[in-house]
Amino acid sequence: MTKFVTLEQIDQSADAVRMRTSYKPRVGIILGSGLNALADSVQKADSIPYSDLPNWPVSTVFGHAGRLVIGELEGQSVLIMQGRVHFYEGYSMSQVTLPVRVMQRLGLEMLFVTNAAGGVNPDFVPGDVMLITDNLNMMGMTGANPLMGPNIDALGPRFPDMSRAYDRDLMALARKVAGESGIALREGVYCGLSGPSFESPADLRFLRLAGADAVGMSTVPEVIVARHGGMRVLGFSGISNKANLDGSTVTTHEEVIEAGKIITPKVETLIRGVLRSL
Ligand code: HPA
Repeated sequence: MTKFVTLEQIDQSADAVRMRTSYKPRVGIILGSGLNALADSVQKADSIPYSDLPNWPVSTVFGHAGRLVIGELEGQSVLIMQGRVHFYEGYSMSQVTLPVRVMQRLGLEMLFVTNAAGGVNPDFVPGDVMLITDNLNMMGMTGANPLMGPNIDALGPRFPDMSRAYDRDLMALARKVAGESGIALREGVYCGLSGPSFESPADLRFLRLAGADAVGMSTVPEVIVARHGGMRVLGFSGISNKANLDGSTVTTHEEVIEAGKIITPKVETLIRGVLRSL
């Protein structure tokens, strides 16, 4: 496949999903590292391995199952991505975001994104959940924006607005659900980097000065594409580790997966609550 996915390829993938399910999902949910469990509680699910879908990027990372789970959750028809691919795996930005394009073509109205992230805000502790209120697009600033290349006018405008990337009404719902469920929901700016190396202490001090509260290796490209396509976005970061601004600790993928076990039930409660109130 070339660097830029075409509308024909997107529609080929979308058709393949349509052939495997009779649901007409309204909400797409992307589950990040260590957060896979929510998909297991979907009722009467149609499950489609990514490897069955043409053009679909398949994850190479431990902790990322690779399948679509389509069914009902809290009375809403949902399409869940159990696992995602990342730019650092070597896929182009256009390939990384193909699943979001497919959601758009399938008529989904909303995208809920989740990820595991390092806490850059010194008040955050591992196990916290942060509502993403905005993002820092470091990948795009350094030349890797998913909308680079020919604009497909049928999908959205050449220069989309990003001033309200995260939907205010959905954020308000999330805060309400958190309050009712006794979840101390943090809020802040998610910074997306390419990875796969974790940040150096100097990187992290720079990102903190730039206004980042959490840092990770995903999400921002998917959100840009969703907004380009007119989908409403809600995002949660599970804080899996404290970013190491002074170089005193090391970060490992294992701790990211481990913290997912504390974070998953909170994210599940939040997502279920928001779905119920839609
Ligand atoms: N940095 C980048 N990505 C991450 C981290 C981190 O500390 N934790 C989980 N994903």
